[in-house]
Amino acid sequence: MTRGVGRRQFLKTSAAGALGTMLAGAAPQAASAEGGVKPVRVGVVGVGGRGTGLLGTLLHFPNLTVPALCDINITNLANAQQRVEKAGQPKPEGYSKHEESFRDLMARDDLDAVIIATPWHWHTPMAVCAMENGKYAGVEVPCAMSFEECWQLVDTHEKTGVPCMMLENWSFRRDNLAVLRMIRQGLLGEIVHCHCAHSHDCIDHWFFDRQGNDRWPAEYLVKYNRDQYPTHSVGPVLSWMDINCGDCFATMTATATGSRGINAYFARTFGEDHPGAKRQYAQGDIVTSVIKTHGGKTLVVNYDMQLPRPYDNRWLIQGTLGLYDEARAAVYLTGRSPEYHQWEPFAPYQEEFEHPWWEAMKDAKGDFGHGGTDYLELIKFIDAVRNKTQTPIDVYDSVTMSVIIPLSEKSIANGNAPIECPDFTRGKWKTRKPAFAV
Ligand SMILES: NC(=O)c1ccc[n+]([C@@H]2O[C@H](COP(=O)([O-])OP(=O)(O)OC[C@H]3O[C@@H](n4cnc5c(N)ncnc54)[C@H](O)[C@@H]3O)[C@@H](O)[C@H]2O)c1
Repeated sequence: MTRGVGRRQFLKTSAAGALGTMLAGAAPQAASAEGGVKPVRVGVVGVGGRGTGLLGTLLHFPNLTVPALCDINITNLANAQQRVEKAGQPKPEGYSKHEESFRDLMARDDLDAVIIATPWHWHTPMAVCAMENGKYAGVEVPCAMSFEECWQLVDTHEKTGVPCMMLENWSFRRDNLAVLRMIRQGLLGEIVHCHCAHSHDCIDHWFFDRQGNDRWPAEYLVKYNRDQYPTHSVGPVLSWMDINCGDCFATMTATATGSRGINAYFARTFGEDHPGAKRQYAQGDIVTSVIKTHGGKTLVVNYDMQLPRPYDNRWLIQGTLGLYDEARAAVYLTGRSPEYHQWEPFAPYQEEFEHPWWEAMKDAKGDFGHGGTDYLELIKFIDAVRNKTQTPIDVYDSVTMSVIIPLSEKSIANGNAPIECPDFTRGKWKTRKPAFAV
């Protein structure tokens, strides 16, 4: 067991880190002394819907073993153990006795990293425990639910030197990474404003099951009024706007609509007398947060998860030379777009500015979640684990995405008042250089 390793000792800033990932049949490479791919051992805590998906993807990685799994649901645990065995590995040891059994898994001395895909309130305690036990923490979204939890993650990372990455897959999306390259090459000019949303109706299958029973996230809709799930929308925006590396969130205001959608859904689907049709939900249907950065940029973030609608992220980023609009799949760029004030399609830009990570993915076989995005995200995480380098999304970016939850809650509770955003980098954003996908 590795406890309290110094930061520098833990993160070898060796050239091995820069090896990055290439895909030989989509195999991440990090050479071992023998010349093969370095072995890596990963435990997974929480093997429900998401954890099982991530596990399935990990099982395609060369020289990656899963010696241990943890879930308090023994059926889910047994299914996941079977999956590992079917992939040709020994049956992983299972931890399922009680809600704190993850601590025994994390204390093992044969794990390099732990993937955490449990309900939200467990993310921070589990990630803290992983870091304290010297294991890379790969934690599902959001990594923290409160200001205190955000700081716990930062403090533990700084104390132990162990990386913690929130697994924000949309930061790795193919279109978003091409846009990042366009921004870094100056096509949009100086960035001024951005809009993003998580518009995903999750009422009939995730907050509640198909029969209208509460699943664990339903409790949050009853108790809180805030942006409950900001990280998918804000993930790519962080690097587009150089947040934590040249700029920093300064203040935020948030405004929520009333709560109508959940009651309407239950009345429509199960009848007016269903308890869900009358229950009081604190959560407003649409939350609009406006963040101002120290550098004078603005960012609008929408939470939109309980009204009927197709999935959407509505990314739009605007600079002094033009803008990209994801919903239109279009750009307008001064000095480049052929027609004055006319949109042009984004598709040719996707080709021209394809990120090298996605160039490499072209040879990858299979999808493994969200069009290959989840695969790429895990490749980059596991690469960092193999090489003992920093993860592509570090703890500062992880908590900066997650802190929108308590910030929006506080602003809404205070009559939409501006709330000061914590600077988790403690001023280092002024000198930190962009690191994500450089
Ligand atoms: N990045 C994405 O695209 C994406 C997609 C879906 C879900 N998620 C995130 O993944 C996480 C899990 O969501 P889900 O939909 O898989 O939920 P789920 O309910 O299907 O799975 C959660 C699992 O955690 C287990 N669990 C609960 N408490 C535990 C404990 N103390 N110790 C061990 N196991 C415990 C449950 O038994 C269950 O098997 C959530 O944080 C969610 O936000 C992310």
